[in-house]
Amino acid sequence: LLPGQHVFEGVLFFGYSPPEVLDAVKFFDVRYDDVFIATYPKAGTTWMQEITWLLMNDGNFETAMKTPVYMRSPFLEFKDTRLEENGLEIASAAPSPRVIKTHLPLKLMPHQIHDKKSKIILFFRNPKDVCVSYYNFYKSSSSFGTFHGDWPEFLEMFREGHVDHGSWFDFTKSWWPLRKQPNVKLMYFEDMKQNPFAEIKMLAEFLGKDHIDDGVLSTIAAHCSFERMKDNPMTNHLDVYSIDSSVSPLLRKGLVGDWKNQFTVKQNEDFDKLYFDKLGQLNIPFKYTL
Ligand code: PPS
Repeated sequence: LLPGQHVFEGVLFFGYSPPEVLDAVKFFDVRYDDVFIATYPKAGTTWMQEITWLLMNDGNFETAMKTPVYMRSPFLEFKDTRLEENGLEIASAAPSPRVIKTHLPLKLMPHQIHDKKSKIILFFRNPKDVCVSYYNFYKSSSSFGTFHGDWPEFLEMFREGHVDHGSWFDFTKSWWPLRKQPNVKLMYFEDMKQNPFAEIKMLAEFLGKDHIDDGVLSTIAAHCSFERMKDNPMTNHLDVYSIDSSVSPLLRKGLVGDWKNQFTVKQNEDFDKLYFDKLGQLNIPFKYTL
């Protein structure tokens, strides 16, 4: 373990999710009308937060253009005293309906999610693109002690789950069994990229927001395009001190299949083997993955 890291119930975390925060998360007061966005890091969380917040707020672009997305949609297990960003505090003080971001595996979630049946959006992205995105984020973010290793080293860390928030495989396996519950919606980054309007419309129905008309849904889709979110100071995180955007911005490429520029043929074959060994039996319909 490096300084600032700790292991909580078998999952590796960095200092921004200290043990006392992870303990408190378990006893977090869940509300019936909460919407949780549960993603592994780099799966497109910020994208889903902006879309979901706009749907839950009936396309209130005016507020969306005034307040950073991380203040409108708190990150449950995040505490940064320098930023005065404390996910649990922001969430507790927020009016309903809340849109709450988390990267936790199911076993570390607030206990009450099981009784309250608030809505949960799972957003999956193919793991090779997640891994490449995470590698670039590690290089640019001081939250991880600023990583100076190279790609093969990071790939090995990712394969072993020795990265912030632990193993992608464990995260994915933990949530997968919930996907058919009526209060859970599983969506894919690749589908959102291919047909944002149709996906956003489907999401609106799931959220009980089918009264929002197609014109507003189209405006949400346009507002949440990669290019627009990258230019928008409320979504691009350029103001976040812990990210050195000159190394790699949070909104880096926003592509499907960028892993092909990073993995060697051998690394790809080895990853496929690991994937099939660990999760092959789940038959998750990842596109552009394997
Ligand atoms: S975080 O910090 O873990 O919550 O990061 P997260 O938002 O999950 O992931 C960042 C990646 O999502 C991409 N992204 C988008 N792609 C397409 N369209 C939109 N609007 C969008 N917003 C964010 C972002 O570019 C990161 O992926 P990479 O592959 O690194 O570009």
